[in-house]
Formats: sequence, structure tokens, C-alpha cells
Amino acid sequence: MRLITLVIAAAMLLVLTAGSASGQESGYSRKGADTCLACHNEDANVLAIFRGKHGVPSDPDSPFGHGQLQCEACHGPGDEHAGRVRRGQERPPVVRFSADSITPVAEQNALCVNCHQSDTGFAWHGSGHDDNSVACADCHVSHTENDPVLSAATQPEVCFDCHQQQRTETLKPYAHPIQHGSMACSDCHNTHGDAAELLLVRQSVNETCHDCHAEVRGPYLWEHAPVTEDCTTCHNPHGSNHPGMLSMRAPMLCQSCHSQSGHPSLPQDERGLPAGTPSQFLLGQSCMNCHNQVHGSNHPSGSKLMR
Ligand code: HEC
Ligand code: HEC
Ligand code: HEC
Ligand code: HEC
Ligand code: HEC
Ligand code: HEC
Ligand code: HEC
Ligand code: HEC
Ligand code: HEC
Ligand code: HEC
Repeated sequence: MRLITLVIAAAMLLVLTAGSASGQESGYSRKGADTCLACHNEDANVLAIFRGKHGVPSDPDSPFGHGQLQCEACHGPGDEHAGRVRRGQERPPVVRFSADSITPVAEQNALCVNCHQSDTGFAWHGSGHDDNSVACADCHVSHTENDPVLSAATQPEVCFDCHQQQRTETLKPYAHPIQHGSMACSDCHNTHGDAAELLLVRQSVNETCHDCHAEVRGPYLWEHAPVTEDCTTCHNPHGSNHPGMLSMRAPMLCQSCHSQSGHPSLPQDERGLPAGTPSQFLLGQSCMNCHNQVHGSNHPSGSKLMR
């Protein structure tokens, strides 16, 4: 009986020390940031943590709020690392957030998610980025006043580090104004989670586009099947060499689905290129000279998308 009480008491003590911010047994340093800054007080990069939202002592939820673990909330227990090291002996490491860190990405991320479950949500787990071991710190910089990924002007560069193809596309002559900083990847993508495939902010491609292009939402009396299905059948959302961000020029675009017979247009040759001299009706706006309501029509006699 007495033995059981003793075991319970010991267990409670363990729980208590593990929960306290400064217990040495738990592996955390006694003086928190003061301990760390005794050595790391010269690197301006490190001190920049106090200029960002993480370094706000008056915010009880921040790493530097009352009773929090300070530097070690992110870098993990650092008592041994901060201690004396004999000549020739290696300093025991703390958690580092870099490509060559020995801490597995899942463990690095768990330290951040501890405080950010509600920002990253449950969708983060199993999302394209989580599955491919992308770290929170691959996109976010913590020791800074302004995290580049959080502002439209600087965000794309962060993404382009890994997404070269999208860099190439957004540099094409017809693109969303991403290069001008007035639009960001995060206008269409929710990089933390999977509301939909391809991390789109809405359930489907079309719903995502309709957020800003309500004029082509419909419903139309006369719909054009590919438009209701998927805008990216004809448009490349990241950018293209063709006006209107079209994936192909008209008439080829239209001819990839529609045959030519009985029309003021020309057949494609076997390579998909227009053969012969173009009809004058196909100059300029091409098929859209007549079918100018490609997205759909509400005119009673608009069934051929001409009015
Ligand atoms: C006695 C001096 C000393 C103290 C105290 C100390 N460190 Fe260090 N720390 C070092 C040295 C030296 C290095 C670089 C060499 C190494 O990693 O062995 C380092 C490296 C680091 C790195 C990796 C740096 C890099 O370039 O990636 C981090 C992160 C770090 N320390 C965090 C902390 C934290 C958090 C604390 C407080 C718990 C702390 N340090 C306390 C001396 C110290
Ligand atoms: C001890 C809790 C805690 C830990 C651990 C933590 N954060 Fe935070 N984080 C906060 C708080 C509190 C804020 C401020 C929230 C606010 O003001 O809305 C914040 C803000 C942020 C922001 C927004 C910054 C801004 O300028 O708007 C980002 C991004 C962020 N954290 C990422 C991370 C990453 C990445 C990690 C892991 C390396 C991490 N956090 C670890 C508590 C924490
Ligand atoms: C692929 C890049 C990427 C990764 C990986 C990533 N984030 Fe973010 N994070 C972003 C972007 C972009 C935003 C801004 C979202 C927006 O503006 O809608 C953001 C915003 C945030 C914010 C601020 C939310 C707010 O509304 O102020 C926090 C906190 C945050 N991320 C934490 C995390 C944590 C924790 C992880 C790891 C589990 C993580 N992020 C992984 C790109 C990323
Ligand atoms: C919110 C989480 C968080 C907190 C709190 C935090 N760090 Fe960091 N630390 C990081 C991340 C993430 C990196 C990787 C570089 C970056 O994002 O700025 C890093 C990088 C470092 C480095 C490597 C140096 C470098 O320039 O890359 C050192 C040293 C360091 N931190 C020490 C500290 C010390 C000392 C404290 C307390 C004063 C502290 N950190 C508080 C998340 C944090
Ligand atoms: C450290 C590298 C890295 C960074 C930085 C990064 N990504 Fe990714 N991203 C990946 C990997 C890896 C995948 C999964 C493999 C793939 O589809 O290419 C991915 C997939 C995606 C996908 C497709 C998701 C899916 O389900 O297939 C989108 C959309 C995306 N990233 C957007 C972004 C945006 C927006 C940013 C910047 C805010 C960003 N990424 C930053 C590595 C990164
Ligand atoms: C106007 C909305 C929009 C913007 C802005 C946008 N995307 Fe996309 N993105 C999409 C759509 C829609 C898809 C899926 C269809 C497709 O691939 O054409 C997609 C697909 C992706 C994919 C997956 C490609 C694949 O085939 O697996 C990646 C990666 C990606 N985007 C990255 C980015 C990055 C990085 C940025 C910022 C430079 C960005 N996107 C900006 C709408 C957008
Ligand atoms: C966050 C708002 C936003 C979202 C979401 C959005 N766009 Fe855009 N779109 C714009 C802006 C802004 C322009 C540039 C308008 C301008 O230059 O006058 C634009 C331009 C375009 C253009 C070219 C118009 C022209 O005159 O050449 C096309 C095509 C287009 N978007 C298609 C799409 C498609 C497809 C999607 C969904 C994958 C989409 N957009 C999602 C804001 C958005
Ligand atoms: C069948 C191919 C096709 C599909 C699918 C399609 N578009 Fe278009 N879109 C075009 C053509 C062609 C133009 C150029 C119109 C012109 O030059 O008259 C265009 C032009 C645009 C423009 C430029 C402004 C305008 O109205 O001229 C926007 C914005 C646009 N489309 C958005 C969308 C959105 C959003 C979707 C999905 C709901 C979509 N498109 C689906 C063929 C298509
Ligand atoms: C991805 C395939 C696809 C592309 C690309 C496409 N269409 Fe269509 N289009 C269709 C389908 C499917 C229908 C519906 C056919 C039906 O109802 O018999 C249709 C219907 C039409 C109709 C009405 C036909 C009728 O009989 O009522 C016109 C006109 C039309 N498209 C013109 C165009 C033009 C112009 C373009 C180029 C800007 C284009 N289409 C691109 C698939 C496509
Ligand atoms: C000079 C005007 C004009 C041009 C240019 C034009 N069309 Fe038409 N198109 C028509 C007319 C008129 C009809 C209606 C025929 C009918 O009602 O029988 C039509 C009908 C159609 C139909 C419905 C099916 C059919 O054959 O009746 C499709 C699909 C179509 N056009 C596609 C195209 C495509 C693709 C292009 C470009 C290669 C194009 N049109 C260029 C005038 C034009």
C-alpha cells in the first residue's frame, strides 16, 4: 500500500517537473533565453527573433510569454548544449531548422505545430507538402521581423526555390500579376492544407477562379461544356505565351475539340497546325469574331455562343 502511494507520488513529481519551464531534469536550461544569449548574443540574425511576433513577452502564447520555454520552445531542451564542453568534445546539439539538420522534419514541424495547430489545421497532415517532408522552416523564417512568405511581393521567391516550372510560367508575357507583387500564390493555393486537390483554396478549380472572375460564373442559359468543367482546359493559371493566358491560340484551341466541316475555318494538318490560307474570318479574334461568348450566353438565341 505504502509502496503504491510512493510510486504515484514519484510519478506526479515527474509530470510536474516535465511541465515546468525550468526544471533541469527535463533537459531545459534553467534561465531560458538568458542562458542561450550568454553565447548567442552577437549574431544579429539570432537577435532578430525579438523584432517578430514570436519575441513578444506580453503575448502569453508567444515563446517568450510568461512561463513559456523561450528559445527552447522551438529548439528543444538545450541544457546540455549550453553546458561546459571539454576540449575535443563535441557540443551536444539542439534542434536546428535547416536542410542539413539531423532532426527529422516531422519532429521539427511538431515543435511548431505545438502552438500552431489552429493555423495549420488538421489538413496539413497528409497534404502534398507534409507527405514530401517539406518543413515549416522551408517556407517560414522565424528570426526576422517580416517573414517573406507572408507578403505578396516576396512570397513567390520562396515557392520558386522548389517550383521552377511555375517561375518560368509566371515570367511569360500573359500571366496573373504575380511578378508585380499584386497577387500571390496564396490567392489560389492554401499551402497548409488540402481543401481540394492541388492545395487550392476552394473545392474546385472553377470555384477558385470565380472568387475573382465572377463575370464568367454563370449560370448561363447556353453553357459551353468545357467552361463549366474546368477553366484550365483553355487557360494556364500561372501564365502563357498567348493572349488571355490561353493554353493554345485560337483556332487551334477550339479545333482541338471541334471539327471544321461546313465552317469559315480551315482544317488542321496532321501536326495540328492550320493548313492553307486562313479564312479572313479567322484573323484577329479568330473563331471569337463570331463566337464571342465563349464562356456561355444568356441571350435567347445564343446557343451558338455568338451573342
Ligand atoms: C556556452 C555557449 C553556448 C550556449 C550557452 C548555447 N550555445 Fe548554442 N551553440 C554554441 C556553439 C559554440 C555553437 C556552434 C557549434 C556547435 O554547434 O557545436 C552553437 C550552435 C547552436 C545552434 C546551431 C547553429 C547553426 O549554425 O545551425 C543553435 C540553434 C543553438 N546553438 C541554439 C542554442 C540555444 C537555444 C541555447 C540555449 C538553450 C544555446 N544555443 C546555448 C554555444 C552555445
Ligand atoms: C510557444 C508557442 C510557439 C511556437 C513553439 C511557435 N510559434 Fe509561431 N507564433 C506563436 C505566436 C503566439 C504567434 C503570434 C500570433 C499572432 O500574433 O497572431 C506566432 C506567429 C507565427 C507566425 C506569424 C508571424 C507573423 O509575422 O505574422 C508564423 C509564420 C509562425 N508563428 C510560424 C512558426 C514556426 C514555423 C514555428 C516553428 C519553427 C513556430 N511558429 C513556433 C507561437 C509559437
Ligand atoms: C509551402 C510553404 C509553407 C509551409 C511548408 C508552411 N507554411 Fe505556414 N504559411 C505559408 C503561407 C504562404 C502563409 C500565408 C497564408 C495566407 O496569406 O493565406 C502561411 C501562414 C502561416 C501562419 C500565419 C497565419 C496567419 O493567419 O497569420 C502560421 C502561424 C503558419 N503559417 C505556420 C506554419 C507551420 C506551423 C507550418 C508547419 C507545420 C507551416 N506554416 C508550413 C506557407 C507555408
Ligand atoms: C519560433 C521558434 C524559434 C524560437 C523561439 C527561436 N528560434 Fe532560433 N531558429 C528557429 C528557426 C526556424 C531557425 C532557422 C532560421 C530561421 O528561420 O530564422 C532558427 C535558427 C537559429 C540559429 C541558427 C543561426 C542562423 O542564423 O541560422 C540559432 C543560433 C538560433 N536559432 C538560436 C536561437 C536562440 C538563442 C533563441 C532564443 C533567443 C532562439 N533561437 C529562438 C526557430 C526559433
Ligand atoms: C522546400 C521545397 C518547397 C517549397 C519551398 C514549396 N513547395 Fe510546394 N511542393 C513541394 C513538394 C516536394 C511538393 C510535392 C511534389 C510535387 O507535387 O511537386 C509540392 C507540391 C505543391 C503543390 C501541389 C500539391 C499537390 O497536392 O500535388 C502546390 C500547389 C504547391 N506545392 C504550392 C506551393 C506554394 C504556393 C509554395 C510557396 C508558398 C510552395 N509550394 C513552396 C516542395 C516545396
Ligand atoms: C490564379 C490562381 C493561381 C495562382 C495565382 C497560382 N496557382 Fe498554382 N495552380 C492553380 C491551378 C488552378 C492549378 C491546377 C491546374 C494546373 O496545374 O494548371 C495549379 C497547380 C499548381 C501546382 C501543381 C502543378 C502540378 O501539375 O502538379 C503547383 C506546384 C503550383 N500550382 C504552384 C504555384 C505557385 C508556386 C504559385 C505562385 C508563384 C502559384 N501556383 C500560383 C492556380 C493558381
Ligand atoms: C485573387 C483574384 C484572382 C483569382 C482567384 C483568379 N484571378 Fe484571374 N485575374 C486576376 C487579376 C487581378 C487579373 C489581371 C487583370 C488585369 O490585368 O486587368 C487576372 C487576369 C486573368 C486572365 C487574363 C485576362 C486578360 O484580359 O488577359 C485570365 C484568363 C484569368 N485571370 C483566368 C483565371 C483563372 C482560370 C483562374 C482560376 C484558376 C483565375 N483567373 C483566378 C485575379 C484573379
Ligand atoms: C473553351 C475554352 C475556355 C474555357 C474552358 C474558359 N475560357 Fe476564359 N477565355 C477563353 C477565350 C478564347 C478567351 C479570350 C476571349 C476573347 O479574346 O474574346 C477567354 C478570356 C477569359 C478572360 C479574360 C476576360 C474576358 O472575359 O475576355 C477571363 C478572365 C477568363 N477567360 C476566365 C475564365 C474562367 C474563370 C474560366 C472557368 C470558369 C474560363 N475562362 C474558361 C476560353 C476559355
Ligand atoms: C475541351 C474541348 C472543347 C474546346 C477546347 C472548345 N470546345 Fe466548344 N464545345 C465543346 C463541347 C463538348 C460542346 C458541347 C457540344 C454539344 O452540345 O454538342 C461545345 C460547344 C460549342 C459551341 C456550341 C455548339 C452547339 O452545337 O451548340 C460552340 C459555338 C463552340 N463550342 C465554340 C467553341 C470555340 C469558339 C472554342 C475555342 C475558343 C471552343 N468551342 C473550344 C468542347 C470544346
Ligand atoms: C464568320 C463567323 C464564324 C466564324 C469565324 C466561326 N464560326 Fe462557328 N458558326 C458560325 C455560325 C453562323 C454557326 C451556326 C451554324 C448553324 O446554325 O447551322 C456556327 C456554328 C458553330 C458550331 C456548332 C456546330 C455546327 O457546326 O453547327 C461550332 C462547334 C462552331 N461554330 C465552332 C467554330 C470554331 C471552332 C471556329 C473557329 C475555328 C468557328 N466556329 C468560327 C459562324 C462562325
